[in-house]
Amino acid sequence: MPEVKTIADLRIDNGRLCRRIAELAETGAIEGDGVCRLALSDEDREGRDLVCQWMKQLGMRVSVDRIGNVVAYRDGLEDVAPVMTGSHVDSVASGGRYDGALGVLAGLEVIARLNDAGVSTRRPLAVGFFTNEEGARFAPDMMGSGVHQGALDLDEMLASTSIDGKILGEELKRIGYDGATGVNQFRAHCFIELHVEQGPVLEQEAIGIGAVTGVQGISWTEYRIDGISNHAGTTPMHLRHDAGYVAAAIAVEARRIATDMGGSQVATVGAIELVPNLVNVIARQALMTVDLRNMDEARLQSAEQRLAEFVGAIEASEGVEISQRRLARFEPVAFDGAMVALVEETATSLGFSCKRMPSGAGHDAQMFAPNSPTAMIFVPSKDGISHNVAEFTAAPELEAGANVLLQVMLNKASS
Ligand code: GLV
Ligand code: MN
Ligand code: MN
Repeated sequence: MPEVKTIADLRIDNGRLCRRIAELAETGAIEGDGVCRLALSDEDREGRDLVCQWMKQLGMRVSVDRIGNVVAYRDGLEDVAPVMTGSHVDSVASGGRYDGALGVLAGLEVIARLNDAGVSTRRPLAVGFFTNEEGARFAPDMMGSGVHQGALDLDEMLASTSIDGKILGEELKRIGYDGATGVNQFRAHCFIELHVEQGPVLEQEAIGIGAVTGVQGISWTEYRIDGISNHAGTTPMHLRHDAGYVAAAIAVEARRIATDMGGSQVATVGAIELVPNLVNVIARQALMTVDLRNMDEARLQSAEQRLAEFVGAIEASEGVEISQRRLARFEPVAFDGAMVALVEETATSLGFSCKRMPSGAGHDAQMFAPNSPTAMIFVPSKDGISHNVAEFTAAPELEAGANVLLQVMLNKASS
């Protein structure tokens, strides 16, 4: 490392950051360089244990709260609210190695570099990883950070059931992360999260850093459609109560709503299960999810309403019963103007091109935004690919993002 004359010259050790990313990716590794660390699985526990070990090696005080969030502290010169960073260690089942991991490990690299350089900060620094950010095994997403910041109810979340029929509170105990620290008591001085973009914009425009202005609203619904099984060859079309057909029609309508509305409206049917799922049997049941997102709350509500009207109409016309369960609902979030400007100024002063942009994905930072000045730093994702084992961000791009994180944290820690 070159000699550091001023704090502004301090840079992260990217070799160490990349080695940690590679080592964490060995936990829950799956074919194609990806990871499967579904929340509170054995693989998530392994990833958590490794990150906790690194936190302790860095001399940090590690606390685990009642929803399993892990927050590690480095003392400041004064006992005041900390500058906080962090993200998540859990992944979707087909996850890449950067989603979440980058934000946590870059936070640890900031601490490691300050330790190496013997730098003390006025404010304490905190690096956290939050339970079940993905929402892939338990809903909703951003669960740990939501409970941490008081937006979601602890007991309700502890009782939530996974896609494999397990209770969250019991899974927390099983993996040893049912901590004792209370939730919804903690206010950060500010929160800043580094994350891969998970979309194509930065790469397509050849920009190094995204200064994230906010996160779009998220609406997740699970539909259960109950029809009647019958013989595929003998049942005339007009006498069917076909749960499979209804699920397919809802999927097509969700897509049509998004394309009709345009703008930032997106719609995804990521899961459909049919029962009994056989070639010559009309399905008697379908279980499916719809994910709707928009940057604008009113437009998100109109997408929800349009879909609800369609669901009601097809329920009547096909003679099936449809019940629904809300899995997640978060309004769009705007980040703090001064924090976004600080990200932008820091990126520019370090010589990186920078663009203000919204986030299409949900992030832990959005749960901090109502309570503390919050922003995010994005780095490019190759081909815009994420939630896929092929997710990739090149080492110099990771380095740029981590150096912006370091300098933003140093700036806020002296304020
Ligand atoms: C969470 O990562 C989401 O945006 O689905
Ligand atoms: Mn993420
Ligand atoms: Mn994700």
